[in-house]
Amino acid sequence: MTVETQAVKLTETAETVLKRRYYLKGEQGEPVENWEKLCRRVANAVALPDRDLDDYEELKDHFFSLIYQLDFLPNSPCLMNAGTGIGQLSACFVLPVEDSMEGIFSAVKNGALVHKTGGGTGYSFSRLRPKNATVSSTQGVASGPLSFAAVFDVATETIKQGGKRRGANMGVLRVDHPDIMDFICAKEDQTRFTNFNFSVAITDAFMKALYDEAEYDLVDPVTCEIVERLNAREVYDKIVELAWHNGEPGVLFIDTANRANPTPQLGEFEATNPCGEQWLLPYESCNLGSINLGQFVKGGEVDYDRLARCTRLATRFLDNVIDCNVFPIPEIAEMTMKTRKIGLGVMGLHDMLIQMAIPYGSRNARELSSKVMSFIRRVSQETSEELARIKEPFPAYDPKTNDYTPRRNAALTSIQPTGTVSMIADCASGCEPYFSIVMVKHVMDGDRLLMVNKHFERVAKEEGFYSSELMAKVADTGTVVGHSEIPAVWQDVFRTAQDISYGDHIQMQGNLQCNGVDSSISKTINMSNAATKEDVRLAYMMGYELGCKGLTVYRDGSRDHQVLNTKSAS
Ligand code: CDP
Repeated sequence: MTVETQAVKLTETAETVLKRRYYLKGEQGEPVENWEKLCRRVANAVALPDRDLDDYEELKDHFFSLIYQLDFLPNSPCLMNAGTGIGQLSACFVLPVEDSMEGIFSAVKNGALVHKTGGGTGYSFSRLRPKNATVSSTQGVASGPLSFAAVFDVATETIKQGGKRRGANMGVLRVDHPDIMDFICAKEDQTRFTNFNFSVAITDAFMKALYDEAEYDLVDPVTCEIVERLNAREVYDKIVELAWHNGEPGVLFIDTANRANPTPQLGEFEATNPCGEQWLLPYESCNLGSINLGQFVKGGEVDYDRLARCTRLATRFLDNVIDCNVFPIPEIAEMTMKTRKIGLGVMGLHDMLIQMAIPYGSRNARELSSKVMSFIRRVSQETSEELARIKEPFPAYDPKTNDYTPRRNAALTSIQPTGTVSMIADCASGCEPYFSIVMVKHVMDGDRLLMVNKHFERVAKEEGFYSSELMAKVADTGTVVGHSEIPAVWQDVFRTAQDISYGDHIQMQGNLQCNGVDSSISKTINMSNAATKEDVRLAYMMGYELGCKGLTVYRDGSRDHQVLNTKSAS
């Protein structure tokens, strides 16, 4: 059987990104690949573990079409490194930080080895003794988690990931660690810990104390003694104040995550990867990939048959990545092979909704997104069960502890940010709404070029309301809302991140989390600049109550350097 492949035309932005960072380069630094060659390289490398299976030749073509047509893209390290000899194909790692000099500095070293190959690392600093605790070997006092986090930060600064992107870290501290107040305030100064996202690991006990307006215990992780009691409301208000101030710290609901730990026999979750979508045990790694949902709408409906085929192939692809991966250190190889976690997610969710004329903030959007995500998980799980029969289940699978059918992968779904791969695919990132509909690109001689969202351009032309004056107005106001030339129904459909209420953002995250996501979701809860601390306070509680495993809020304009800006893209 031959595999049909649709011709694709990449956007200029996609080609620029690919040339700069993804295509293999010759001796003079010139790209020696194009999109087709890159896709062949990746498909052939990832099919290789199945070379003894009957469908090997066909599988190579299937993998090729999947990526080439932009129906599914694996995470950046896989696109960059597969078939190149570097061979480290994963984006996500969690490394343990033990309470000893040796433990701390071996984590620094291991982190450097991961970054060198393009991966991002998550660390929990919760096992470290608090600042000023005694150090018996030197009769001195401990410096505490934060001063050690600064060492990780400096190490990251000097190692650009795989020479291709900045290093990324997640730093986690439990809310019951004695140094929690310092940790919460650590990034108030935006020049510090710039290579880290910081998140507070919030426990159920803390949330209970918060609802009861009570105190809770701070515990020394080494002696296990209660060293202090704090008022939960005061700690929570501090987190809220700082998050309102500049978006950090984020929160991770660690007990919610551990309740869904698929292999509790191997240990507890302490941290996630840098962007928060993947909970991992110490030394686990995970490779991610995203289905481009905008590609699966046909005649105003989701084409579930095609989505099922894509999900099956994508699951097999990500499972194979584990077998052709070159792991940076033996501990990571061993742990990853035990659980074989993958992170199958989506991008272009907003493209799907727009094509079906469903506003992102509506109940309809949440219901459809949940249906699609749970469909993906079900098909992925069935595929993983089938792979377990053909190959074998993940080695740590234990029928006595694990109350699910044997499968090949302990975790299947998570939603990655797709910061770069969505640029290649020309779609909205992950499960986020578009950030803007008309962007301004400043070109030479001070001219400005308007970049109009492809769906908006099509609809505006079809419905007869397209004009360059209107596009300029949308660019200047940063929204489609409130322009009388645009019919009300389309003003609703084309609402962007800032036009959608924070409650609707959180409800989308909560619905996806509870209806199809095994691990977690990377999502920003956007708020307007005028949002209050009370809004942030309610947002975190709402996220917890809806079953989210973490939450990041961002109030427009609250950081010195805002990466995305509604009005300019350069
Ligand atoms: O789109 P792409 O595959 O490049 O990455 P992403 O979806 O934006 O991020 C996925 C994961 O890659 C993050 O959660 C990090 O674990 C890792 N990452 C990283 O290590 N360094 C970066 N500069 C960006 C992402």
